[in-house]
Amino acid sequence: MTDLNILVVEDEKFQRELLSELLRKEGYSVYEAENSKCALEIMEKRPIDICILDLKLPDMDGVSLLREMKKRDPEVDIIIITAYGSIETAIDALKSGAEDYLTKPISFEDLLIRLKKIKNKRTLLSENKILKETLKERLKSEDFIFASEKMQEVASLIVRVAKTDSTCVIEGESGVGKEIVANLIHAYSARREFPLVKVNCAAIPETLLESELFGYEKGAFTGAYQRKPGKFEIADGGTIFLDEIGEVPLSVQAKLLRVIQEKEFERLGGLKPVKVDVRIVAATNRRLDELVKKGMFREDLYYRLNVLRIFIPPLRERKEDIPLLIDHFIKKYSLRHKKEIKGITKEARDLLIKYDYPGNVRELENIIERAVVLARGEYITTEDIAGIPSGQRESESLSMRGMIESIEKSMILEALEKNNWIRTKAASFLGLSERMLRYKMKKYKIEKEDLDNQR
Ligand SMILES: Nc1ncnc2c1ncn2[C@@H]1O[C@H](COP(=O)(O)OP(=O)(O)OP(=O)(O)O)[C@@H](O)[C@H]1O
Ligand SMILES: [Mg+2]
Repeated sequence: MTDLNILVVEDEKFQRELLSELLRKEGYSVYEAENSKCALEIMEKRPIDICILDLKLPDMDGVSLLREMKKRDPEVDIIIITAYGSIETAIDALKSGAEDYLTKPISFEDLLIRLKKIKNKRTLLSENKILKETLKERLKSEDFIFASEKMQEVASLIVRVAKTDSTCVIEGESGVGKEIVANLIHAYSARREFPLVKVNCAAIPETLLESELFGYEKGAFTGAYQRKPGKFEIADGGTIFLDEIGEVPLSVQAKLLRVIQEKEFERLGGLKPVKVDVRIVAATNRRLDELVKKGMFREDLYYRLNVLRIFIPPLRERKEDIPLLIDHFIKKYSLRHKKEIKGITKEARDLLIKYDYPGNVRELENIIERAVVLARGEYITTEDIAGIPSGQRESESLSMRGMIESIEKSMILEALEKNNWIRTKAASFLGLSERMLRYKMKKYKIEKEDLDNQR
Protein backbone atom coordinates (compact mmCIF):
# COMPACT_ATOMS: atom_id res chain seq x y z
CA MET A 1 0.00 0.00 0.00
CA THR A 2 1.22 3.43 -0.73
CA ASP A 3 -0.02 6.70 0.63
CA LEU A 4 0.13 8.66 -2.60
CA ASN A 5 -2.95 10.16 -4.23
CA ILE A 6 -2.94 10.02 -8.00
CA LEU A 7 -5.26 11.91 -10.28
CA VAL A 8 -5.77 10.55 -13.80
CA VAL A 9 -6.99 13.18 -16.26
CA GLU A 10 -8.02 11.58 -19.52
CA ASP A 11 -11.10 12.16 -21.63
CA GLU A 12 -11.30 8.72 -23.16
CA LYS A 13 -13.35 6.69 -20.72
CA PHE A 14 -11.90 3.28 -21.52
CA GLN A 15 -8.27 4.45 -21.32
CA ARG A 16 -8.90 6.33 -18.08
CA GLU A 17 -10.64 3.45 -16.35
CA LEU A 18 -8.08 0.91 -17.44
CA LEU A 19 -5.17 3.00 -16.24
CA SER A 20 -6.90 3.84 -12.95
CA GLU A 21 -7.68 0.19 -12.27
CA LEU A 22 -4.10 -0.86 -12.88
CA LEU A 23 -2.82 1.85 -10.56
CA ARG A 24 -5.30 0.88 -7.85
CA LYS A 25 -4.01 -2.68 -8.07
CA GLU A 26 -0.55 -1.25 -7.39
CA GLY A 27 -1.89 0.22 -4.19
CA TYR A 28 -2.29 3.87 -5.17
CA SER A 29 -5.40 5.88 -4.29
CA VAL A 30 -6.68 6.95 -7.66
CA TYR A 31 -9.09 9.73 -8.65
CA GLU A 32 -10.43 10.16 -12.17
CA ALA A 33 -11.27 13.26 -14.14
CA GLU A 34 -12.61 13.42 -17.69
CA ASN A 35 -11.89 17.08 -18.26
CA SER A 36 -9.98 19.98 -16.77
CA LYS A 37 -12.92 21.42 -14.86
CA CYS A 38 -13.45 18.16 -13.08
CA ALA A 39 -9.68 17.82 -12.49
CA LEU A 40 -9.45 21.21 -10.78
CA GLU A 41 -12.51 20.44 -8.68
CA ILE A 42 -10.89 17.26 -7.38
CA MET A 43 -7.71 19.14 -6.59
CA GLU A 44 -9.66 21.62 -4.51
CA LYS A 45 -11.14 18.84 -2.45
CA ARG A 46 -8.19 16.64 -1.72
CA PRO A 47 -4.42 16.72 -1.81
CA ILE A 48 -3.13 15.23 -5.03
CA ASP A 49 0.47 14.09 -5.07
CA ILE A 50 0.81 13.01 -8.66
CA CYS A 51 -1.28 13.84 -11.70
CA ILE A 52 -1.20 11.82 -14.90
CA LEU A 53 -2.43 14.24 -17.47
CA ASP A 54 -3.43 13.70 -21.08
CA LEU A 55 -2.50 16.89 -22.84
CA LYS A 56 -5.35 16.64 -25.33
CA LEU A 57 -8.49 17.58 -23.47
CA PRO A 58 -11.88 18.80 -24.71
CA ASP A 59 -12.27 21.93 -22.58
CA MET A 60 -8.82 23.39 -22.05
CA ASP A 61 -5.44 22.73 -23.51
CA GLY A 62 -3.34 20.48 -21.34
CA VAL A 63 -0.46 22.89 -20.82
CA SER A 64 -2.79 25.58 -19.47
CA LEU A 65 -4.36 23.07 -17.12
CA LEU A 66 -0.90 22.05 -15.98
CA ARG A 67 -0.06 25.65 -15.12
CA GLU A 68 -3.35 26.03 -13.27
CA MET A 69 -2.61 22.94 -11.23
CA LYS A 70 0.89 24.06 -10.39
CA LYS A 71 -0.50 27.41 -9.31
CA ARG A 72 -2.84 25.69 -6.89
CA ASP A 73 -0.26 23.28 -5.60
CA PRO A 74 3.36 23.84 -6.60
CA GLU A 75 4.26 20.50 -5.10
CA VAL A 76 2.06 18.33 -7.29
CA ASP A 77 4.10 16.19 -9.67
CA ILE A 78 2.65 15.95 -13.14
CA ILE A 79 3.35 13.26 -15.69
CA ILE A 80 1.97 14.23 -19.06
CA ILE A 81 0.81 11.94 -21.82
CA THR A 82 1.21 13.15 -25.37
CA ALA A 83 0.29 11.72 -28.69
CA TYR A 84 3.09 10.05 -30.53
CA GLY A 85 5.16 12.61 -32.40
CA SER A 86 4.11 15.77 -30.58
CA ILE A 87 7.46 16.27 -28.95
CA GLU A 88 7.19 20.08 -28.99
CA THR A 89 4.14 20.04 -26.73
CA ALA A 90 5.97 17.70 -24.43
CA ILE A 91 8.89 20.11 -24.19
CA ASP A 92 6.47 22.93 -23.61
CA ALA A 93 4.88 21.02 -20.78
CA LEU A 94 8.21 20.17 -19.20
CA LYS A 95 9.12 23.83 -19.30
CA SER A 96 5.85 24.65 -17.58
CA GLY A 97 6.72 22.41 -14.71
CA ALA A 98 5.76 18.86 -15.68
CA GLU A 99 7.93 16.28 -14.02
CA ASP A 100 8.01 13.71 -16.80
CA TYR A 101 6.21 12.64 -19.94
CA LEU A 102 5.05 9.51 -21.72
CA THR A 103 3.95 9.06 -25.30
CA LYS A 104 0.94 7.11 -26.41
CA PRO A 105 0.43 4.24 -26.45
CA ILE A 106 1.73 4.19 -22.92
CA SER A 107 3.52 1.22 -21.48
CA PHE A 108 2.25 0.57 -18.00
CA GLU A 109 5.63 -0.71 -16.89
CA ASP A 110 7.23 2.52 -17.99
CA LEU A 111 4.67 4.49 -16.04
CA LEU A 112 5.31 2.47 -12.90
CA ILE A 113 9.05 3.13 -13.11
CA ARG A 114 8.42 6.85 -13.39
CA LEU A 115 5.99 6.81 -10.52
CA LYS A 116 8.53 5.05 -8.40
CA LYS A 117 11.11 7.66 -9.23
CA ILE A 118 8.75 10.43 -8.24
CA LYS A 119 7.81 8.60 -5.09
CA ASN A 120 11.45 8.30 -4.05
CA LYS A 121 12.00 11.95 -4.75
CA ARG A 122 8.96 12.89 -2.68
CA THR A 123 9.98 10.80 0.32
CA LEU A 124 13.39 12.35 0.24
CA LEU A 125 11.95 15.83 -0.01
CA SER A 126 9.51 15.31 2.82
CA GLU A 127 12.21 13.85 5.03
CA ASN A 128 14.34 16.86 4.30
CA LYS A 129 11.44 19.13 4.99
CA ILE A 130 10.67 17.53 8.31
CA LEU A 131 14.32 17.59 9.19
CA LYS A 132 14.65 21.22 8.26
CA GLU A 133 11.52 22.22 10.10
CA THR A 134 12.45 20.48 13.30
CA LEU A 135 15.91 21.86 12.92
CA LYS A 136 14.71 25.38 12.38
CA GLU A 137 12.18 25.25 15.15
CA ARG A 138 14.34 23.63 17.70
CA LEU A 139 17.73 24.98 16.84
CA LYS A 140 16.33 28.48 16.74
CA SER A 141 15.08 28.15 20.25
CA GLU A 142 18.59 27.26 21.32
CA ASP A 143 20.04 30.38 19.74
CA PHE A 144 22.06 28.36 17.33
CA ILE A 145 22.45 30.58 14.30
CA PHE A 146 23.44 29.44 10.85
CA ALA A 147 22.81 30.04 7.19
CA SER A 148 25.77 28.61 5.32
CA GLU A 149 25.60 25.31 3.55
CA LYS A 150 28.46 24.03 5.70
CA MET A 151 26.57 24.74 8.89
CA GLN A 152 23.35 23.32 7.49
CA GLU A 153 25.27 20.11 7.11
CA VAL A 154 26.53 20.39 10.65
CA ALA A 155 22.97 21.00 11.80
CA SER A 156 21.54 17.93 10.15
CA LEU A 157 24.46 15.93 11.47
CA ILE A 158 23.63 17.13 14.98
CA VAL A 159 20.10 15.84 14.64
CA ARG A 160 21.27 12.49 13.32
CA VAL A 161 23.99 12.12 15.93
CA ALA A 162 21.53 13.01 18.67
CA LYS A 163 19.31 10.10 17.68
CA THR A 164 22.11 7.60 18.21
CA ASP A 165 23.81 6.68 21.42
CA SER A 166 27.37 6.45 20.10
CA THR A 167 30.31 8.38 21.40
CA CYS A 168 31.06 11.40 19.32
CA VAL A 169 33.92 13.83 18.83
CA ILE A 170 33.34 17.46 17.95
CA GLU A 171 36.30 19.07 16.26
CA GLY A 172 36.97 22.67 15.41
CA GLU A 173 39.09 25.69 16.20
CA SER A 174 38.63 27.65 19.36
CA GLY A 175 35.37 29.60 19.49
CA VAL A 176 33.59 27.87 16.58
CA GLY A 177 30.74 26.65 18.76
CA LYS A 178 31.76 23.18 19.92
CA GLU A 179 30.08 23.58 23.25
CA ILE A 180 26.80 24.77 21.75
CA VAL A 181 26.82 21.74 19.50
CA ALA A 182 27.39 19.45 22.47
CA ASN A 183 24.43 21.10 24.23
CA LEU A 184 22.26 20.52 21.19
CA ILE A 185 23.24 16.87 20.85
CA HIS A 186 22.20 16.30 24.41
CA ALA A 187 19.05 18.38 24.12
CA TYR A 188 17.77 16.37 21.13
CA SER A 189 18.77 13.00 22.47
CA ALA A 190 16.65 10.53 24.38
CA ARG A 191 18.82 11.41 27.36
CA ARG A 192 17.64 15.01 27.55
CA GLU A 193 15.78 14.52 30.81
CA PHE A 194 19.01 13.40 32.43
CA PRO A 195 22.01 15.55 33.23
CA LEU A 196 24.53 16.94 30.81
CA VAL A 197 27.75 17.15 32.77
CA LYS A 198 30.64 19.17 31.42
CA VAL A 199 34.28 18.64 32.18
CA ASN A 200 37.03 20.80 30.80
CA CYS A 201 39.85 18.29 30.80
CA ALA A 202 42.51 20.93 30.17
CA ALA A 203 41.52 23.20 33.01
CA ILE A 204 41.67 20.52 35.68
CA PRO A 205 45.16 19.71 36.94
CA GLU A 206 46.34 16.33 35.80
CA THR A 207 46.46 14.92 39.30
CA LEU A 208 42.87 15.87 40.00
CA LEU A 209 41.33 14.86 36.71
CA GLU A 210 40.96 11.22 37.59
CA SER A 211 39.18 11.84 40.88
CA GLU A 212 37.07 14.53 39.26
CA LEU A 213 35.86 12.10 36.59
CA PHE A 214 35.59 8.94 38.63
CA GLY A 215 35.23 10.12 42.22
CA TYR A 216 36.93 8.66 45.25
CA GLU A 217 36.25 6.60 48.34
CA LYS A 218 36.70 7.82 51.86
CA GLY A 219 40.36 7.55 52.77
CA ALA A 220 41.54 7.14 49.19
CA PHE A 221 44.18 9.77 49.86
CA THR A 222 44.97 12.24 52.60
CA GLY A 223 42.16 14.70 52.71
CA ALA A 224 39.56 12.30 51.34
CA TYR A 225 37.33 12.50 54.39
CA GLN A 226 34.29 11.16 52.69
CA ARG A 227 33.29 9.45 49.50
CA LYS A 228 32.80 11.76 46.55
CA PRO A 229 31.04 10.77 43.36
CA GLY A 230 32.76 11.59 40.08
CA LYS A 231 31.29 13.34 37.06
CA PHE A 232 30.52 10.01 35.43
CA GLU A 233 28.27 9.05 38.30
CA ILE A 234 26.59 12.42 38.31
CA ALA A 235 25.96 12.09 34.59
CA ASP A 236 24.38 8.65 34.92
CA GLY A 237 21.57 8.28 32.39
CA GLY A 238 22.70 11.43 30.64
CA THR A 239 25.65 12.77 28.70
CA ILE A 240 29.15 13.72 29.73
CA PHE A 241 30.85 16.43 27.71
CA LEU A 242 34.61 15.98 27.80
CA ASP A 243 35.97 19.27 26.54
CA GLU A 244 39.59 19.40 25.33
CA ILE A 245 39.80 15.63 25.30
CA GLY A 246 43.24 15.88 23.69
CA GLU A 247 44.61 17.10 27.03
CA VAL A 248 43.67 13.98 28.97
CA PRO A 249 46.82 12.28 30.25
CA LEU A 250 47.52 8.72 29.15
CA SER A 251 46.87 7.32 32.63
CA VAL A 252 43.30 8.63 32.61
CA GLN A 253 42.82 7.62 28.98
CA ALA A 254 43.03 3.95 29.98
CA LYS A 255 40.24 4.41 32.46
CA LEU A 256 38.12 6.25 29.92
CA LEU A 257 38.54 3.42 27.48
CA ARG A 258 37.24 1.02 30.07
CA VAL A 259 34.13 3.11 30.78
CA ILE A 260 33.35 3.14 27.10
CA GLN A 261 33.89 -0.58 26.66
CA GLU A 262 32.48 -1.95 29.87
CA LYS A 263 30.37 0.91 31.18
CA GLU A 264 32.00 0.61 34.54
CA PHE A 265 34.93 1.92 36.56
CA GLU A 266 36.20 2.07 40.12
CA ARG A 267 36.34 5.16 42.25
CA LEU A 268 39.80 6.13 43.44
CA GLY A 269 40.64 3.87 46.32
CA GLY A 270 37.61 1.77 45.59
CA LEU A 271 37.44 -1.91 44.78
CA LYS A 272 33.86 -2.37 43.71
CA PRO A 273 33.14 -1.43 40.11
CA VAL A 274 30.53 1.30 39.62
CA LYS A 275 28.12 0.78 36.73
CA VAL A 276 27.03 3.78 34.70
CA ASP A 277 25.07 4.48 31.58
CA VAL A 278 26.58 7.64 30.14
CA ARG A 279 26.99 8.88 26.64
CA ILE A 280 30.32 10.51 25.91
CA VAL A 281 30.54 13.58 23.72
CA ALA A 282 34.08 14.90 23.44
CA ALA A 283 35.49 18.06 21.91
CA THR A 284 38.91 19.12 20.82
CA ASN A 285 40.60 21.91 18.96
CA ARG A 286 43.59 19.69 18.31
CA ARG A 287 43.94 16.98 15.72
CA LEU A 288 43.45 13.76 17.66
CA ASP A 289 44.87 11.67 14.84
CA GLU A 290 48.09 13.63 15.09
CA LEU A 291 48.22 13.17 18.84
CA VAL A 292 47.84 9.46 18.20
CA LYS A 293 50.80 9.53 15.84
CA LYS A 294 52.86 11.32 18.46
CA GLY A 295 51.95 8.69 21.03
CA MET A 296 50.10 11.21 23.18
CA PHE A 297 46.69 9.72 22.63
CA ARG A 298 45.77 6.06 22.75
CA GLU A 299 44.82 4.75 19.37
CA ASP A 300 42.19 2.38 20.76
CA LEU A 301 40.52 5.21 22.64
CA TYR A 302 40.68 7.39 19.56
CA TYR A 303 38.73 4.82 17.55
CA ARG A 304 36.25 4.27 20.34
CA LEU A 305 35.55 7.97 20.63
CA ASN A 306 35.60 8.79 17.00
CA VAL A 307 32.61 6.63 16.06
CA LEU A 308 30.86 9.80 15.02
CA ARG A 309 32.66 12.99 14.16
CA ILE A 310 31.34 16.49 13.75
CA PHE A 311 33.70 19.03 12.32
CA ILE A 312 32.72 22.67 12.73
CA PRO A 313 34.43 24.78 10.10
CA PRO A 314 36.09 28.05 11.13
CA LEU A 315 33.97 31.17 10.69
CA ARG A 316 36.16 32.53 7.90
CA GLU A 317 35.19 29.54 5.78
CA ARG A 318 31.46 30.19 6.16
CA LYS A 319 31.10 33.91 5.90
CA GLU A 320 27.42 33.61 4.96
CA ASP A 321 26.81 33.06 8.66
CA ILE A 322 28.36 36.38 9.67
CA PRO A 323 25.42 38.72 8.90
CA LEU A 324 22.97 36.54 10.81
CA LEU A 325 25.31 36.21 13.73
CA ILE A 326 25.82 39.97 13.77
CA ASP A 327 22.07 40.58 13.98
CA HIS A 328 21.67 37.90 16.60
CA PHE A 329 24.39 39.32 18.83
CA ILE A 330 23.14 42.88 18.38
CA LYS A 331 19.73 41.77 19.66
CA LYS A 332 21.21 39.76 22.47
CA TYR A 333 23.48 42.49 23.75
CA SER A 334 21.22 45.47 23.25
CA LEU A 335 18.76 43.63 25.47
CA ARG A 336 21.40 42.80 28.01
CA HIS A 337 22.86 46.28 28.13
CA LYS A 338 19.45 47.93 27.75
CA LYS A 339 20.41 49.86 24.65
CA GLU A 340 18.16 50.49 21.73
CA ILE A 341 20.34 49.48 18.85
CA LYS A 342 18.41 48.97 15.65
CA GLY A 343 21.17 47.55 13.55
CA ILE A 344 24.46 48.20 11.92
CA THR A 345 25.54 50.41 9.03
CA LYS A 346 26.42 48.78 5.77
CA GLU A 347 30.05 49.89 5.97
CA ALA A 348 30.46 48.39 9.42
CA ARG A 349 28.77 45.19 8.36
CA ASP A 350 31.00 44.90 5.29
CA LEU A 351 34.05 45.41 7.44
CA LEU A 352 32.97 42.66 9.77
CA ILE A 353 32.30 40.33 6.88
CA LYS A 354 35.78 40.91 5.51
CA TYR A 355 37.61 40.10 8.71
CA ASP A 356 38.84 36.56 9.16
CA TYR A 357 38.25 35.86 12.88
CA PRO A 358 41.07 33.79 14.30
CA GLY A 359 38.90 33.59 17.43
CA ASN A 360 35.84 32.57 15.38
CA VAL A 361 32.29 33.18 16.62
CA ARG A 362 33.42 34.05 20.12
CA GLU A 363 35.55 36.86 18.72
CA LEU A 364 32.68 38.20 16.62
CA GLU A 365 30.44 38.04 19.67
CA ASN A 366 32.93 40.04 21.75
CA ILE A 367 33.28 42.63 19.01
CA ILE A 368 29.53 43.11 18.80
CA GLU A 369 29.04 43.28 22.53
CA ARG A 370 31.65 45.95 22.80
CA ALA A 371 30.20 47.87 19.86
CA VAL A 372 26.72 47.75 21.38
CA VAL A 373 28.05 49.20 24.61
CA LEU A 374 30.02 51.90 22.82
CA ALA A 375 27.45 52.85 20.20
CA ARG A 376 26.09 56.35 20.59
CA GLY A 377 23.46 56.18 17.88
CA GLU A 378 20.82 53.68 16.93
CA TYR A 379 23.13 51.97 14.51
CA ILE A 380 26.53 50.47 15.04
CA THR A 381 29.03 52.28 12.89
CA THR A 382 32.56 51.60 11.72
CA GLU A 383 33.64 53.86 14.55
CA ASP A 384 32.20 51.49 17.13
CA ILE A 385 34.22 48.68 15.71
CA ALA A 386 37.20 50.85 14.88
CA GLY A 387 40.59 49.28 15.24
CA ILE A 388 38.82 46.04 15.56
CA PRO A 389 39.45 43.46 14.77
CA SER A 390 42.72 43.33 16.55
CA GLY A 391 43.69 41.34 19.62
CA GLN A 392 44.34 44.52 21.52
CA ARG A 393 40.80 45.77 21.12
CA GLU A 394 39.37 42.40 21.77
CA SER A 395 40.78 42.30 25.26
CA GLU A 396 38.96 45.54 25.97
CA SER A 397 35.67 43.74 25.65
CA LEU A 398 33.35 44.74 28.41
CA SER A 399 31.88 41.35 29.06
CA MET A 400 32.64 39.85 32.42
CA ARG A 401 34.27 36.88 30.82
CA GLY A 402 36.25 39.13 28.53
CA MET A 403 37.42 41.20 31.48
CA ILE A 404 38.46 38.20 33.50
CA GLU A 405 40.22 36.76 30.51
CA SER A 406 42.12 39.92 29.82
CA ILE A 407 43.18 40.22 33.46
CA GLU A 408 44.23 36.61 33.44
CA LYS A 409 46.19 37.10 30.26
CA SER A 410 48.09 40.08 31.57
CA MET A 411 48.83 38.30 34.86
CA ILE A 412 50.25 35.38 32.97
CA LEU A 413 52.34 37.65 30.76
CA GLU A 414 53.67 39.44 33.80
CA ALA A 415 54.51 36.22 35.60
CA LEU A 416 56.29 34.88 32.55
CA GLU A 417 58.26 38.05 32.16
CA LYS A 418 59.26 38.12 35.82
CA ASN A 419 60.41 34.54 35.59
CA ASN A 420 62.34 34.86 32.34
CA TRP A 421 59.75 32.78 30.54
CA ILE A 422 60.60 29.73 32.55
CA ARG A 423 57.24 28.07 32.69
CA THR A 424 57.67 25.99 35.83
CA LYS A 425 58.66 29.10 37.73
CA ALA A 426 55.90 31.24 36.28
CA ALA A 427 53.38 28.53 37.08
CA SER A 428 54.33 28.26 40.72
CA PHE A 429 54.46 32.07 40.89
CA LEU A 430 50.84 32.07 39.78
CA GLY A 431 49.85 29.07 41.84
CA LEU A 432 48.96 27.10 38.74
CA SER A 433 50.13 23.74 37.54
CA GLU A 434 52.49 23.91 34.63
CA ARG A 435 49.98 22.07 32.52
CA MET A 436 47.31 24.59 33.33
CA LEU A 437 49.68 27.39 32.47
CA ARG A 438 50.47 25.76 29.15
CA TYR A 439 46.77 25.46 28.46
CA LYS A 440 46.11 29.08 29.28
CA MET A 441 49.07 30.25 27.22
CA LYS A 442 47.66 28.38 24.29
CA LYS A 443 44.20 29.73 24.91
CA TYR A 444 45.41 33.31 24.96
CA LYS A 445 47.93 32.61 22.24
CA ILE A 446 50.74 33.85 24.45
CA GLU A 447 54.12 33.45 22.89
CA LYS A 448 57.34 35.20 23.61
CA GLU A 449 56.95 37.68 20.75
CA ASP A 450 53.67 38.74 22.25
CA LEU A 451 55.42 40.43 25.05
CA ASP A 452 57.87 42.12 22.75
CA ASN A 453 54.98 43.50 20.73
CA GLN A 454 53.37 44.95 23.77
CA ARG A 455 56.34 47.00 24.71
N1 LIG B 1 26.15 29.14 15.56
C1 LIG B 1 26.18 29.94 16.61
N2 LIG B 1 25.11 30.71 16.91
C2 LIG B 1 25.12 31.52 17.98
N3 LIG B 1 26.15 31.66 18.80
C3 LIG B 1 27.25 30.94 18.57
C4 LIG B 1 27.33 30.04 17.46
N4 LIG B 1 28.53 29.45 17.48
C5 LIG B 1 29.20 29.95 18.53
N5 LIG B 1 28.44 30.84 19.21
C6 LIG B 1 28.82 31.58 20.42
O1 LIG B 1 30.21 31.78 20.39
C7 LIG B 1 30.80 31.54 21.66
C8 LIG B 1 31.80 30.41 21.55
O2 LIG B 1 31.12 29.18 21.35
P1 LIG B 1 31.58 27.86 22.11
O3 LIG B 1 31.95 28.14 23.52
O4 LIG B 1 30.54 26.82 21.85
O5 LIG B 1 32.89 27.55 21.26
P2 LIG B 1 33.99 26.40 21.44
O6 LIG B 1 34.23 25.84 20.10
O7 LIG B 1 33.58 25.48 22.53
O8 LIG B 1 35.27 27.25 21.87
P3 LIG B 1 36.60 26.78 22.68
O9 LIG B 1 37.35 25.84 21.77
O10 LIG B 1 37.32 28.05 22.90
O11 LIG B 1 36.11 26.13 23.93
C9 LIG B 1 29.67 31.24 22.62
O12 LIG B 1 29.31 32.40 23.31
C10 LIG B 1 28.55 30.80 21.70
O13 LIG B 1 27.32 31.11 22.26
MG1 LIG C 1 34.51 25.13 24.36
